Amino acid sequence: MAANQTKKMQLTFEQIRQIEAEHGSPCYIFDEEAFRKNYDDIVKAFSGRYERFILAYSYKTNYIPYLCGIIREKGGWAEVVSRLEYDLALKVGQDPAKIIFNGPVKCYEDIELALANKSIVNLDAMYEVDYVTKYAREHPDEQVRVGLRINIDLSDEASLSQIQDQFKVGRFGFDLEDIEQAASRLTASENIVVNSLHGHSTTPGRSVKCYEVIARMLCDAAERYFAQTVEYINVGGGIYGYIPPEMRWTEVPTFDDYAGAVCGVMNASDWARKHQPRLVLEPGVAMVANALSFVTKVVSTKTIRGKLFVTVDGSAFHVKPTFHRVNQPHRIISAQSTDSRQRFSVVGSTCMEKDYLLTDIVDVMPHRGDYIKIDSVGAYTVVLSPDFIYLSPAIVVNKGGRWCGIRRRQTFDDMFGCYSFDF
Ligand SMILES: Cc1ncc(COP(=O)(O)O)c(C=O)c1O
Repeated sequence: MAANQTKKMQLTFEQIRQIEAEHGSPCYIFDEEAFRKNYDDIVKAFSGRYERFILAYSYKTNYIPYLCGIIREKGGWAEVVSRLEYDLALKVGQDPAKIIFNGPVKCYEDIELALANKSIVNLDAMYEVDYVTKYAREHPDEQVRVGLRINIDLSDEASLSQIQDQFKVGRFGFDLEDIEQAASRLTASENIVVNSLHGHSTTPGRSVKCYEVIARMLCDAAERYFAQTVEYINVGGGIYGYIPPEMRWTEVPTFDDYAGAVCGVMNASDWARKHQPRLVLEPGVAMVANALSFVTKVVSTKTIRGKLFVTVDGSAFHVKPTFHRVNQPHRIISAQSTDSRQRFSVVGSTCMEKDYLLTDIVDVMPHRGDYIKIDSVGAYTVVLSPDFIYLSPAIVVNKGGRWCGIRRRQTFDDMFGCYSFDF
């Protein structure tokens, strides 16, 4: 078993019926043990090699407040990309000095609040430089610390782009050529220093090599432009977490592999050895993908021109809002045991033809009223599911044998309360 895997709960039909009676169907189930273990395993891998390590959880991947609270309780940091997420971090009691504010769109008030709170603010574009210099002018007695996101060219030896969706050029952060200009505009104010360099890139291969390149570029840029002031080297997120064997299409690096590469660069850099910056990782998928399951109820089964369809009360939006075609691990949970295995697809409750939760699987054929549990649905589901045709499901966690709601099922008023009914 891979180091970062926990054993999944084997829920019985009766247990799920009980969850449905209390919380409705469909429903998400949060595996708190898996989430905590991911945190511990990542921290162990990195801080064992570079002591001054910070895990900043990427809120956007799944910002259920209960999860954010666990991060705070464990001493982790919050990585946020909007004022909405920033306010959520404050609301769950996150120390503002342990919030990293990234993202391409921040207004002056966002930057003003975050700087006043001593959060780490990584700037993405020149307009933010103007905001920071304005803030520094208005607060002449404050030492203003601010970070810069650097756009790192991750093309491989064959000039093939490693950026998500094969974009040749990534759109985030400052081009290396503009760093000097941004730096001189900032440091023209005596009370501004650049304290953080950030280099997140979402790469489809999530390869260890990319992280080595990112860490090296950031250390080199720090040494060259901000040798005395950079306190944080932030390699961003994007690492693989535990991927169940049935979902692997490639060799998956371990946390130790990533940590070995990044910390290796840190420990080999003369500048980093001398200045001992803190190393920041911002994992999202690796923290949460395997920590959420989705339980959905079978509404009907039918055969159309020889193809078997099982229609459920959930939809693809709940398990794969990007509509990828990889089948996540799943289990049919039936009222009566049967061993008749067949090939079928599990299709959802919306009116979209492409609403497939599972495609062409061979498994025990479920009946109306049975349940299907789909695992590894924690990343970019809860945050990306639209209010589409149905109300959003509850999310539950097991606490001492009881299933407690960490989000109740949405109501009609939750959904339509912000619309006008004055016609
Ligand atoms: C700035 C930043 N940090 C961290 C992450 C988290 O990435 P992942 O969920 O792939 O770990 C993202 C995702 O896009 C990001 O944009």
